[in-house]
Amino acid sequence: MYPVSKPLACALSGVLYYALQVAAASDLTTAMSACSNLTASFGPTIVETGGAQYNATAQGTWSLFNSLDRPTCIAYPTSTAQVQTIMKAIYAAGSKYAVIAGGHSAMVGYNSISNGVLISFSQMTNVSYDSGSDTVTVQPGVHWGDAVEYLQSYGVAVLGGRAADVGTGLLLGGGISFLSPQYGWSADALKEADVVLVTGQMVTANATNQYKDLFQALKGGANRFGIVTRYALTPAHVGTAADKNWYGGMILYPGSQSAAVSNASAKFIRENTDPKATLMVLMSTMDLTATDAHIVYVFYQGASLPTSIYGTFLSIPNTTATLSSMSYADMATMIPGNARGNGQQFGAASYIGDEATFLTGFNHFVNFTAHYKSLFEASYLIISPVPRSQWAVSTARGGNAIGDPGVAYASMNFEPIYLPGILAVPANVTAGFDLLLSQVQSNTSLPLYINECDASQSVFATYPGYATLKQTYAKYDPTRFNIRNTVGPLGL
Ligand SMILES: Cc1cc2nc3c(=O)[nH]c(=O)nc-3n(C[C@H](O)[C@H](O)[C@H](O)COP(=O)(O)OP(=O)(O)OC[C@H]3O[C@@H](n4cnc5c(N)ncnc54)[C@H](O)[C@@H]3O)c2cc1C
Ligand SMILES: *[C@@H]1O[C@H](CO)[C@@H](O)[C@H](O)[C@H]1NC(C)=O
Ligand SMILES: *[C@@H]1O[C@H](CO)[C@@H](O)[C@H](O)[C@H]1NC(C)=O
Ligand SMILES: *[C@@H]1O[C@H](CO)[C@@H](O)[C@H](O)[C@H]1NC(C)=O
Ligand SMILES: *[C@@H]1O[C@H](CO)[C@@H](O)[C@H](O)[C@H]1NC(C)=O
Ligand SMILES: *[C@@H]1O[C@H](CO)[C@@H](O)[C@H](O)[C@H]1NC(C)=O
Ligand SMILES: *[C@@H]1O[C@H](CO)[C@@H](O)[C@H](O)[C@H]1NC(C)=O
Ligand SMILES: *[C@@H]1O[C@H](CO)[C@@H](O)[C@H](O)[C@H]1NC(C)=O
Ligand SMILES: *[C@@H]1O[C@H](CO)[C@@H](O)[C@H](O)[C@H]1NC(C)=O
Ligand SMILES: *[C@@H]1O[C@H](CO)[C@@H](O)[C@H](O)[C@H]1NC(C)=O
Repeated sequence: MYPVSKPLACALSGVLYYALQVAAASDLTTAMSACSNLTASFGPTIVETGGAQYNATAQGTWSLFNSLDRPTCIAYPTSTAQVQTIMKAIYAAGSKYAVIAGGHSAMVGYNSISNGVLISFSQMTNVSYDSGSDTVTVQPGVHWGDAVEYLQSYGVAVLGGRAADVGTGLLLGGGISFLSPQYGWSADALKEADVVLVTGQMVTANATNQYKDLFQALKGGANRFGIVTRYALTPAHVGTAADKNWYGGMILYPGSQSAAVSNASAKFIRENTDPKATLMVLMSTMDLTATDAHIVYVFYQGASLPTSIYGTFLSIPNTTATLSSMSYADMATMIPGNARGNGQQFGAASYIGDEATFLTGFNHFVNFTAHYKSLFEASYLIISPVPRSQWAVSTARGGNAIGDPGVAYASMNFEPIYLPGILAVPANVTAGFDLLLSQVQSNTSLPLYINECDASQSVFATYPGYATLKQTYAKYDPTRFNIRNTVGPLGL
C-alpha cells in the first residue's frame, strides 16, 4: 500500500515540511521588509495589516480557495505614482506579491497571497469618457457593470464581461464580451496602457511607440508583464438606456435535451456569420434530471431572434424563456456573477463546431462530475463562440497576443463549483481533472483562452506568437522577477 515504509514516509514528509517552513519563513521576512517600507512611506491608510477593509479584500475573492490567504500587508494605491513606489519596495525586498482587480480569477494564488504583499485596486475605480478623442479611460479597480452603467448616458460602452461583477483583469487575458462578434476581443479595444514594470518604472505603451511589443503582449499575456494602472479604450457606440435595440434573454432547457443543446451550440459556432448574433451556453453536468439544467443566453441586435440563426435552439422544447427588447446596458448587467463562498476551478478547451466533439467533451465532463459529485454544489460546461468576425476586427485593430487561428471556434470552459466547506481542491479530484483535460482534447491548432484555463494548462504555448511573447517577457522582466515572485500562467 505504501511505496516506502511508513516511518520513512513520515521522515521524508518531515523534511519536506521543514523545507516548506524555511521557504515560508524567508518569504515572510522579505514581505515584512517590503511592508514596513511601505508603511513608512505611506502610513496605515494605504497599507494595512489587518482590520475590516483588509479582511474584506483578502476574503472577498470570487473563489473561496483564494479567500483563505492572509497577505502580510495589503496596499491600496490611489495613483500610478503610488503603484510605482509599491512595486519598487517589493522589488528591492525581493518579496512575493499578487494583484487583485475584480477578484474573479479561478486560479489558486493568481489574486491572493500569504507571506507577500497584495496590491488591491479597490481605491482606483474611476471611469471617464472623452468624446473628442472617443476614448474611455478606466482605472483597474472598476467592475464592468459599473463602467457600463456610467457610460450609457454617453451612448457608449466598454467591451466588458458578460457578468457585471467581473473586473478589468479580463482585458489582460483577451476578454469575451457580448459585443466581441462586432468589436473584437475586449483587449483589441485597448488604445494605450500605463504599465508599472517590476522595477517600478512606469511606461505608457501603445501600438506605435517604443513599447509596442509590450502593448501587444498585454493583450493576452495576463498578469505576467507588469501592472496596468490605466487603460485607454475605444468604446462601442451602442446607444443609451432608451435605445432598446437588442432582443434576447435567457432560455432554460431540461437535462433530457442535453444532446440537442450541445448539437445546436456546435451548429451555431460552425455556421453563424452574423456579428449581431450572440450566444452563451451553460450546460449543467450535475443533475441531468433537472428541468432547468441548461441555461442559454441569446441576444440579437435587432427586434427579434432570426430563425435562420437561432431556429435550432428555438425548436428544442424549453422549460422557461424570458426574452424581451433591451439596451446593451440591460444585457451587460443581467447576469450579476457576484456569488461568493464556493471554491472554483476552471479548465479550458477550444473546439471547432463539430457535434461529435462537443458531445464527447460534455459526456466526459458528466462522467467526471458524477464521480466527485458529493464535493460539488454545481458543475457547468460554458460555451462561448469566437466567430471569424471577432478576429476580423482584431486584425484590423492590430491583433493581440492570442493570435488568429483562421477558423471559427468555441472556447469551452469546464467549471466545477465546490460545496462551501471545501477549502481546497482535494488531491483525488486533481487526478480526475487532469484526466478530464486530457480526455476533452482541445484542438491543437487553436489557442486556449487563458481566462478560462486551469493553472496546469500551458496556454501561452498554444499562441502562434509564443516565441515572440517569450522574447517580450525576457525584455521587460530580465531577472524573471514575476515568474519567481507571483503566481501566474506557465510557459514564459
Ligand atoms: C462569474 C464570471 C463570469 C465571467 N465572465 C466572463 C466573460 O463574460 N468574458 C470573459 O472573457 N471572461 C469572463 N470571466 C473570466 C474573467 O475574464 C477572468 O476571471 C478575469 O481574470 C477576471 O478579472 P478580474 O479583474 O475580475 O479578476 P482578478 O482575479 O482581480 O484578476 C485576474 C488576474 O489578472 C491580474 N490583474 C488584474 N488586474 C491587473 C492589473 N491592472 N495589472 C496586472 N495584473 C492584473 C490579477 O493579478 C489576476 O492574476 C468570468 C469569470 C467569472 C468568475
Ligand atoms: C523603501 O525602499 C526603497 C527601495 O529600496 C528605498 O529607496 C526607500 O528609501 C525605502 N523607504 C523607506 C521609508 O524605508
Ligand atoms: C478579520 O478576520 C480575522 C480572521 O477571520 C478576525 O479574527 C478578525 O476579527 C477580523 N477583523 C475585523 C475587524 O473584522
Ligand atoms: C475620473 O472620472 C471623471 C469623470 O467620471 C473625470 O472627470 C476625471 O478626470 C477622472 N479622474 C481621473 C484621475 O482619471
Ligand atoms: C503612442 O504614444 C506616442 C508617445 O509615446 C504618441 O506620439 C503616439 O501618437 C501614440 N500613438 C497612438 C496610436 O496612440
Ligand atoms: C447530435 O449529434 C450527434 C452527432 O451528429 C447525433 O448522432 C445525434 O443524433 C444528435 N442528437 C440530437 C438530439 O440532436
Ligand atoms: C419556449 O417554449 C414555449 C412553450 O412550448 C414556446 O411557446 C416558446 O416559443 C419557446 N420559446 C423559445 C424561445 O424557444
Ligand atoms: C476524494 O477525496 C475527498 C476528500 O479528500 C473525499 O471526500 C471524496 O469522497 C473522495 N472522492 C472520491 C471519488 O474518491
Ligand atoms: C470517469 O471518471 C473517473 C474519475 O476521474 C475515471 O476514473 C474514469 O476512468 C472515467 N471514466 C471514463 C469512461 O472516462
Ligand atoms: C482542428 O482544427 C483544424 C482547423 O484549425 C481543423 O481542420 C480540424 O478539423 C480540427 N480538428 C477537429 C478534431 O475538430
